[in-house]
Amino acid sequence: MLITDALMAQLVAAARGARNRAYAPYSQFHVGAALLDEQGRIHAGCNVENAAYPQGQCAEATAIGHLVMAGGARIVAAAVVGVAPQPVTPCGGCRQRLREFADDSAPVWTADLQTVTARFTLGQLLPASFGPDHLMRQGTR
Ligand code: THU
Repeated sequence: MLITDALMAQLVAAARGARNRAYAPYSQFHVGAALLDEQGRIHAGCNVENAAYPQGQCAEATAIGHLVMAGGARIVAAAVVGVAPQPVTPCGGCRQRLREFADDSAPVWTADLQTVTARFTLGQLLPASFGPDHLMRQGTR
């Protein structure tokens, strides 16, 4: 699939829309994420916090749930939207969550409400990663 800048812009727009749904009464840090699947569909999500703080869920995790529920199999591109002095990159745990469904080459763009703030690939954000392939081999015990 050709991932054009126009498609990435659509992904960013979807992440901005999802951010408006953020449930973040504790941090007040609203995040939206959007994922492009292998069929060209976009799945979005927001962060969902919890009074028991560690139970809160990142926007990326919500979006992954939507992708899986819609029958998506792969993440071919991702966008994360948040407002901060630095680009709002996925947290470490979410880099691993994305890795489950995405190749190193998958673009991961960050944006705020106006502009794209940074452009990475997943491999740049999570180099030398552990993934599903590690578990596909027999006789490693
Ligand atoms: N958060 C996300 O949803 N995604 C990110 O990429 C960074 C952090 C959320 C988690 C928490 O609800 C809030 O932002 C503050 O950390």
